Amino acid sequence: MQVISTIAELRTRLNGEHAVAFVPTMGNLHEGHLELMKLARKHGDCVVASIFVNPLQFGPNEDFDRYPRTLEADCASLQGLADIVFAPSVNGMYPERQTVFVEPPPIANELDGAARPGHFRGMATVVLKLLNIVQPQVALFGKKDYQQLHIIRQLVAQLNLPVLIVGGETVRAADGLALSSRNQYLSTAERNEATFLYQTLQSMRVAILQGERDFEQLQKQAVEHLAARNWSADYIEVRNQSDLQPPHSEQGYPVQQLVILAAARLGNTRLLDNVEVCLA
Ligand code: PAF
Repeated sequence: MQVISTIAELRTRLNGEHAVAFVPTMGNLHEGHLELMKLARKHGDCVVASIFVNPLQFGPNEDFDRYPRTLEADCASLQGLADIVFAPSVNGMYPERQTVFVEPPPIANELDGAARPGHFRGMATVVLKLLNIVQPQVALFGKKDYQQLHIIRQLVAQLNLPVLIVGGETVRAADGLALSSRNQYLSTAERNEATFLYQTLQSMRVAILQGERDFEQLQKQAVEHLAARNWSADYIEVRNQSDLQPPHSEQGYPVQQLVILAAARLGNTRLLDNVEVCLA
């Protein structure tokens, strides 16, 4: 496995590779990332992981400075899974002030985007840069960041990028908590409590499967249940999988493929999760 830090060196190394599968990350890798790497191997002969904490997608009061940077440990866990680790510096990615941005679709201002203005613009901009730098045939992203994956699919489709986007399933701890680099911000007591978010989404899923269609009421109850246990929910929303809009009839038929999306704060940690609900 080669660790490469400059764009020029990466381009030289990738010259002649025709089946590149790419997993962009911000490092601090956990089992969820490693599962994506294994999936990447099924999609390409040359597996590239990038590790770059992208300043453009963090708001002024967010955790850019304290975001865990663990390059050495990350490279150790990528041994045998990746062929190349691309770990550029901030200066390498942004040698001049970035004044050209991707304008993401309007959904970027809802859900996570409502709580994190500019986040998806910064994310989409760096993803486009990374795809242009690596020029993979396939790029893989986790479904845990469901809205991110949706926006990346739109970016690739609407800007005609020649890359196949593959979503990897969310990897969970034994108690159901979705793995995330931010879980390590949780205290022991918070970590024990954290699984309640997933349990809440699962209860909503069961209710919908059993016929509940008053989604607003379900959402309101979930927010209240979380609040009663000292959580503060940014949103808990039932949406269509296809466009992330509130469920509506499609050509007279009720939407069958739903997803429940949530972001909620426990202490100082903001956790994201989602579960899909397929009615047919
Ligand atoms: O999901 C992430 O880790 C980041 O948002 C990504 C896609 C690597 C862009 O910085």
